[in-house]
Amino acid sequence: MSMANSRRALLLKRGCFFWGRRSFSTLPQGTAAPSSSSSQDLINFEYQHSAHNYHPIPIVFSQAKGSSIWDPEGNRYLDFLSAYSAVNQGHCHPKIMKALQEQAERLTLSSRAFYNDRFPIFAKRLTSMLGYDMVLPMNTGAEGVETALKLARKWGYEKKKIPKDKAIIVSCCGCFHGRTLAVISMSCDNEATREYGDQVAGFLFEPIQGEAGVIIPPDGYLKSVRNLCSKYNVLMIADEIQSGLARSGKMLACDWEEVLPDVVILGKALGGGVIPVSAVLADKDVMLCIRPGEHGSTFGGNPLASAVALASLDVIRDENLAERSTEMGQELRNQLAKIQHQFPNYIKEVRGRGLFNAVELNSKNLFPISAYDICLKLKERGVLAKPTHDSIIRLTPPLSMSSDELQEGLNAIRDVVEHDLPKLQKTKPQNSSSVSHPTICDRCGRSLYGDI
Ligand SMILES: Cc1ncc(COP(=O)(O)O)c(C=O)c1O
Repeated sequence: MSMANSRRALLLKRGCFFWGRRSFSTLPQGTAAPSSSSSQDLINFEYQHSAHNYHPIPIVFSQAKGSSIWDPEGNRYLDFLSAYSAVNQGHCHPKIMKALQEQAERLTLSSRAFYNDRFPIFAKRLTSMLGYDMVLPMNTGAEGVETALKLARKWGYEKKKIPKDKAIIVSCCGCFHGRTLAVISMSCDNEATREYGDQVAGFLFEPIQGEAGVIIPPDGYLKSVRNLCSKYNVLMIADEIQSGLARSGKMLACDWEEVLPDVVILGKALGGGVIPVSAVLADKDVMLCIRPGEHGSTFGGNPLASAVALASLDVIRDENLAERSTEMGQELRNQLAKIQHQFPNYIKEVRGRGLFNAVELNSKNLFPISAYDICLKLKERGVLAKPTHDSIIRLTPPLSMSSDELQEGLNAIRDVVEHDLPKLQKTKPQNSSSVSHPTICDRCGRSLYGDI
């Protein structure tokens, strides 16, 4: 008996009927469709049947529109995370949904073995919008980063004449570029390489570090990076996957210092929160270091993704989302600063650019209350935000959020700080802290915990 057959026999004995890998008999009737299950059932299913690689806030998204989310019980929440800035245009934007539906009915996939009639239009639009010669399309952000690294190494060997297998990419303390092996070995890691010199092919950085807690670089940082990269013939590679596409109040966060990186990586909001689309932009002298067959992806540049990305870019432009982000972000920080002024024992810092913001808590004073506990309270008051590290709450609502919705969110934040925190401090046992004990980076002293 083959291995597959013996496994099937075993499962039949246990009362499970398998067709491929799908079970038809383990769930009670009527619980398979998410909308007919309660939030608690769904959370339990996920806990039992999915890897525990996240630690979500216990709310189940069932429906969404703009900045509003509804759970299966019909409760409404305001989104203050935007799927880590993938939903800059707001949930289920009608123009993006229309593009998705129309394209889905016509053509979804060609693979790059052939041409399709959407990708070239998207490539032309994106490159002319951002001022680069060429684009290499991928799907997820992490793939975009991998592509940029591969490109930089190829450029290093071919153009900079770095000796074989010696090319180095320098990255930053506190960086986050996704979860693939290449980038996690670069992320703030004690074992990471520290060599420099003429073997450096690229400098990879986030113009605003999101996962590290919305760290804004000091004024002049981006210009200095540009100058150093030009001086030492190193590719300046900006990971704008989270900071780009109007999130920080400019189309790219590098625009704050009018700096043009050699390579830009985009993702998240490029797919309008609908479909994964990522892209690496560069000029010809860099991009043409990749030749046919050396890199690609079956789904990269697919017509469905290209149509959605075109509509996503249209919405950012037509609805002036960059300007909105600047104005709303300023309003958000002004009001948060007032709350901080009133409760300095609880809030250490409010920082951000555009609608890319964070509140850093005074964790010593708040112990044993963590940012996660506060996010649970925010959820009870109808606002969905996510902690990054133990003491930072990121606030990144959709850029299409209305002023009234922003105010609604701010009222909830104020209520949590004013009313819930004092109560929590009194009631939460000192030994029940959800504050974790991170390893510390020996380069920058920062905690090495990612955003889980
Ligand atoms: C700056 C940055 N780079 C890369 C990534 C990875 O993107 P993805 O999760 O789509 O692979 C992220 C995701 O949060 C990010 O914030």
